[in-house]
Amino acid sequence: MKALVLAGGAGTRLRPITHTSAKQLVPVANKAVLFYGLESIAAAGITDVGVVVGDTAEEIRDAVGDGSAFGLKITYVPQDRPLGLAHAVLVARDYLGDDDFVMYLGDNFVVGGITGLVEEFRGNRPDAQILLTRVKDPRPFGVAELDGAGRVVGLEEKPEHPRSDLALVGVYLFTPVIHDAVRAITPSRRGELEITHAVQHLIDRRADVRCTVIQGYWKDTGNVADMLEVNRTVLEGMARRIDGDVDHASETVGRVVVEAGARIVNSRIVGPAVIGSGTVVEDSYVGPFTSIAENCRVTDSELEFSIVLRDSTIHGAGRIESSLIGRHVEVTPAPSVPSAHRLVLGDHSKVQIHT
Ligand code: DAU
Repeated sequence: MKALVLAGGAGTRLRPITHTSAKQLVPVANKAVLFYGLESIAAAGITDVGVVVGDTAEEIRDAVGDGSAFGLKITYVPQDRPLGLAHAVLVARDYLGDDDFVMYLGDNFVVGGITGLVEEFRGNRPDAQILLTRVKDPRPFGVAELDGAGRVVGLEEKPEHPRSDLALVGVYLFTPVIHDAVRAITPSRRGELEITHAVQHLIDRRADVRCTVIQGYWKDTGNVADMLEVNRTVLEGMARRIDGDVDHASETVGRVVVEAGARIVNSRIVGPAVIGSGTVVEDSYVGPFTSIAENCRVTDSELEFSIVLRDSTIHGAGRIESSLIGRHVEVTPAPSVPSAHRLVLGDHSKVQIHT
């Protein structure tokens, strides 16, 4: 069995923060979302992985390399234009050969991995198996309709009036019958070859398409509350590891990760929390569910339930909670007169000021 990981697509997209031009590299607990996908593929016993790349190929290759860091053998499959998920299967046809494969969208996060699903698929070997999850607003997703027995009877891509709240998760298990289906479909209204339509094509031909409903699913929709929440879930599952320097005046409590090259000086870190390499935390408190990425400086401040991306400085800021702070950001006190906020905020920023 192989895996096909989709890490192509158009480069940038508007978010409250442009973390990176490749959306698959958005960090969760200081690690790119794509890496969790690759790790769960490796954990499921799959080693041959095709990674579909587009505009951001260089950024993805720099991050993932040859895959040996994940115990994987990675082959890059260039896709000239992002013409759809089913188009990605078409361009990977030679790579995939006649193997079964799991198709994994690189910007999707499945809490708990896919080992059980892959085992189930290997055991039953239906023609295809899809994953579903209940969401509040299914309109930006593929949406499934099930019959009374829980069988998939219909799929729709981004419907205006969804027939259920069951969204398609971006992990699909396929036998080679999918290749005929992706050749048979035509582009959708948005001009893409939709994998949703290819699976519907299988259903129409009475193929054995099964579904599994999962919990613990996330993708970056630009919703900061969701991002803090998935960050919290991942941090909760981490083991304590102190590889960096923690001085005698500091205390680390519980599941705290201090990466090699990080320094904690006269501070208190209460886990679960992760401090990236090259980061200095001095005269500060870092509370539960906080990720501070690489090469940051946090001094004379308190941070809790927050994400700080790399190369940022937080100095004398008082207490910060429930916040997402981007890359190369500076948070410092204002001069005492005039008594005013001084803000330099990028596009789509959101600030809540305590007055
Ligand atoms: O995330 C789950 C959803 O993914 C499903 O519910 C939908 O049914 C499915 O169509 C897909 O919808 P999106 O519109 O969210 O897909 P997106 O264009 O964001 O692409 C998903 C991933 O695949 C992303 O990592 C980029 C990559 N990609 C996308 C296209 C269109 C490619 O590598 N090549 C492509 O041509």
